[in-house]
Amino acid sequence: MSLVLVLVPANAQKKAKKFVHETVAIPQVERRVIPIETQNTSLVLLVHPNGHLETVHYGAKLSHPEQFLAKGVNTEDYNGFRGATYPATGGRYINEPALHVKYADGNHNTELYYTGHSVRYTNGCITTVIGLKDYVTALEVKLVYDAFEKENVIVSHTEILNGGKKPVQLLNYASSSLYIDADEYLLTHFYGAWATDMQMESEVLGHDMKVIESRRGTQNTQGNNPSFLLSLDTKELSETTGEVIAGALAWSGNFRLSFEKDDAHRLNILAGISPHASAYPLKAGATFVTPEMIYTWSAEGAGGASRNLHRWARNYGVYGGGQVNPTLLNSWEGAYFTFNTETLLRMMDDAAGMGLEMFVLDDGWFGNNYPRNNDDAGLGDWEVNVSKLPEGIDFLAQHAHDKGLKFGIWIEPEMVNPQSDLAHAHPEWVVQSPGREIYQGRNQWVLDLSNPAVEDFVFGIFDRTMQLAPNIDYIKWDCNRVIQSFGSPYLKAEQDRFYVEYTQGLYNVMRRIREKYPRVIVQCCSSGGGRVDYGALKYCNEVWTSDNTDALSRVYMQYAQTMIYPACIMASHVSTVPNHQTGNVTPLKFRFDIACAGRLGLELQPKYFTDQDRATVDRCIASYKQYRDLVFSGDLYRIASPFDGSYYGLMYVSPDKKRAVVYTYCIHFEPRTVGGKVFRLQGLDPACKYKVVEQNVDRSCWWGNGQAFTGDFLMGGGFDPTLYGLYSSAVFVLEAE
Ligand code: DGJ
Repeated sequence: MSLVLVLVPANAQKKAKKFVHETVAIPQVERRVIPIETQNTSLVLLVHPNGHLETVHYGAKLSHPEQFLAKGVNTEDYNGFRGATYPATGGRYINEPALHVKYADGNHNTELYYTGHSVRYTNGCITTVIGLKDYVTALEVKLVYDAFEKENVIVSHTEILNGGKKPVQLLNYASSSLYIDADEYLLTHFYGAWATDMQMESEVLGHDMKVIESRRGTQNTQGNNPSFLLSLDTKELSETTGEVIAGALAWSGNFRLSFEKDDAHRLNILAGISPHASAYPLKAGATFVTPEMIYTWSAEGAGGASRNLHRWARNYGVYGGGQVNPTLLNSWEGAYFTFNTETLLRMMDDAAGMGLEMFVLDDGWFGNNYPRNNDDAGLGDWEVNVSKLPEGIDFLAQHAHDKGLKFGIWIEPEMVNPQSDLAHAHPEWVVQSPGREIYQGRNQWVLDLSNPAVEDFVFGIFDRTMQLAPNIDYIKWDCNRVIQSFGSPYLKAEQDRFYVEYTQGLYNVMRRIREKYPRVIVQCCSSGGGRVDYGALKYCNEVWTSDNTDALSRVYMQYAQTMIYPACIMASHVSTVPNHQTGNVTPLKFRFDIACAGRLGLELQPKYFTDQDRATVDRCIASYKQYRDLVFSGDLYRIASPFDGSYYGLMYVSPDKKRAVVYTYCIHFEPRTVGGKVFRLQGLDPACKYKVVEQNVDRSCWWGNGQAFTGDFLMGGGFDPTLYGLYSSAVFVLEAE
């Protein structure tokens, strides 16, 4: 018998497997509303039985938000699921996503379904945590909302958990998404550049997308600020009326705010870290926590929205918020890099003589092998320059303290000059990209804060500076350049983590500083206002509003800054004329009256004051110290916009409405014959009688000076402060009788 062997090709043995598309079942859930409420506002989310979570309302407080249960939703919409509370790329959603994940198998689809939520109450704040899940990939999202009841502020952030078994890439990972429904959206936002920080611009939003972004790495707010006002159903920004939503992102790195108006005219606001060059890798089991997005709503126009934010900022958002910070003399514009011990002692004596409370030694005090005599060299070498200051910093601080002054000092710890011992010792700590030039800006490079060793070093700079003298009271933390040719030798192939981890590294350092030095006052400076955001303000008491100290320029910047940030953070200094940045010449009193609307300081060489100047200076400082608690913790009312004509005015009112300070300015020439400008005051108690006394003058020219007027008279009838001539100004204190 012969055996015949027939060879059948292996693949022919297998039966072709039929392609079957299997669908993962999504559990049905109970239809319910989730109200997130403050005293006067409601954010209402609706859970649909299919697990979709929809934002159905943000605005005035609703007494019965459960009435939304009757609302259906067309989730079969050809144009995608509109109104999703945290829209993700994939499924039916086809607009700009809050979340876009690329999975290990190359898939880009995520569909988030409600899994449950919890609510807890802690001291004035209600926290709602909502769980969402993608049932195919096991990716989970927690939406966290902190509702600050009294302040009418809702702070939200998102936690993204990779519940799968393989790493994923986060391509978009917004902090929050907010759907709004109105007929018209007027967006007001803030842009700028060096010495023109916080410029204000408004535009009516059309369809499609408006994006506000920073890709600077550091100096995140020198181009755009991560904040905005959105006026609803109007084409004009009103200070006192109409619905306004204000938003601000607490992040000091690259950010992105997008405003997408869809074909149904609904607006989706996405706010978060910019995804630019930052496809963030998330390992299996790891969670990414986004920065916080801060929202408020008011029906009292921009003024109401600002006051809500300010109250929240003073109570929760700013380190030491509401606390009165000292008046000071800063050495920068008065001495720049050219000083010795004697120069500084004389400045301190003058500061004490004028009634100021602190002296701040700015740039130029450090570096020996590479002395910091200009901005070419020395950054990184934080030891006292022995030829300029042979007696040391402790000698200077002691002198200040002996004179009754606090003592502050400047550092720029994130930076290094190529001409420094540090650059030679640790070239691997510099932000760089292999084979490419490391570009300089102001002759300096950026240190790589995504590297924990650099974090330690930067913390050490702060720590050692604090040891230079007992009781250093104040640190000015500067940061004078953006990141270019970005990259970290430490992160090797994971450069996508760089931008995010630079900012997280900065916050790690700040956290350590606050643990060790809870009382030191920290000013956040970045070539002026290059880092003005609620992320940095968690750790810093104030900001250097701008390197531009020209009082006229400051009118516009300070006006805009108060839209989002409280006056307690606004460092505002009187400098010399002609102004070093603009060449403008303004009267000394006008400069004071502008600076006194924030945290007052001086930044000049006081020895050049005439006797007459000194009388003005001493008077302004003394009166400021009497009413400044109103600047630091009063409610702000902007009573005349500098964009509306020749006058600018603002006032701060004490929470009990018993005291107020009013500032009025003429900023463009107005002929006397036109008559005086009437300012209508706001925020007073109509029935209360206030004695009104002009400040900062020898003899007031105002007809009502020293008399008492009712609140309703001052608010309704108005207030004519006799401002004649360009750069005339008048400041008044109101006290209830
Ligand atoms: C930039 C800051 O904004 C200035 O106030 C001053 O501190 C300089 N840096 C010092 O270099």
